[in-house]
Amino acid sequence: MTQADNQLIDPDGRNIHYLRVSVTDRCNYRCTYCMPEDGVDHTARADVLSFEEITALVSAFAGLGVRRVRLTGGEPTVRKDLVTLAGMLAALPGIEDLALSTNGHRLAELAAPLRAAGVTRLNVSLDSLRPERFAKITRRGQVADVLAGLAAAKAVGFASIKLNAVAIKGFNDDEVAALCTFAWQHGFVPRFIEQMPMMEGALFVPGQLMSAADVRAALLADFPGAALVPEPEARLGAGPARYWRLEGGNHDGICRLGLITPITEHFCDTCNRVRLSSSGSLHTCLAHDNAVDLRRALHDGGSAAVQAAILAALALKPPSHLFTLGAKGGPRKSMVQIGG
Ligand code: 5AD
Ligand code: SF4
Repeated sequence: MTQADNQLIDPDGRNIHYLRVSVTDRCNYRCTYCMPEDGVDHTARADVLSFEEITALVSAFAGLGVRRVRLTGGEPTVRKDLVTLAGMLAALPGIEDLALSTNGHRLAELAAPLRAAGVTRLNVSLDSLRPERFAKITRRGQVADVLAGLAAAKAVGFASIKLNAVAIKGFNDDEVAALCTFAWQHGFVPRFIEQMPMMEGALFVPGQLMSAADVRAALLADFPGAALVPEPEARLGAGPARYWRLEGGNHDGICRLGLITPITEHFCDTCNRVRLSSSGSLHTCLAHDNAVDLRRALHDGGSAAVQAAILAALALKPPSHLFTLGAKGGPRKSMVQIGG
């Protein structure tokens, strides 16, 4: 099937060829900007999709034109036998690219089997390189585990490894250059994400927002004499990240970074994705709570019913999100429930 055969075109003309699949809403970390200390309510185990259900649903999406799949969570690696699921999805006709977003906690043991199962690209969350700070942000994690996981992933040879940091003032705003330098040393691509006011802004402090402009300024302050040059749009894929290159100054090699700006620069007009929750709900926008129950459609009418439900949901995909600086306009759902 070529791009032209893709049936997933929404009312705003956006071509949806990318599906994010949340395999669990549980997480072994409790990042302060993502989850309250005592966690959030979890989907009952009986309501979590089986591997067979996930595969059937992804197959229905592939039949409509989805070509890229990313496994997310919560933390996807807390799902038992994730490697088996990765193999099932990688083998599906039509799926050309299987990626994984992870906090990296279990990557040291899982990098090789995941790569062997067909995962080609990784996004790893890394908000800080400093052990005490990392432990404080994640409440449960140790940065050494993630660094060991990254070393294992690098050794295995993924097509791309990106490091994601949520940039927050008074938190990790002084580590922009250090995170970039670390990433560049290893051939990873650092990315900085503006915090989104999920859970109706419950964990969002407007004064702490570090905008992409703040990130660029912080980087330039630490690399005197350097300049940031925007990369051509299509360079690293058509996701929400805008890529920049650090040029000049006292450094060498390829110095590219991504900035994801849900707050200060909306990118909804180029949105190419929808999201499947771990209980089988299709969310057509990260920032809206409305969702369609594809598990029910699968049980009631099989693949044809799923495809009809997907097309009906797509017809209602919101044109844009409503995130604002004042922490208003966010959804009730949390990031850990939908997987970013
Ligand atoms: N805003 C922006 N990014 C977030 N993440 C978690 N919560 C938020 C938020 N409120 C990030 C994680 C991870 C990715 C899945 O989403 O750090 O990199
Ligand atoms: Fe942290 Fe990601 Fe877990 Fe949220 S889902 S607590 S951001 S590791």
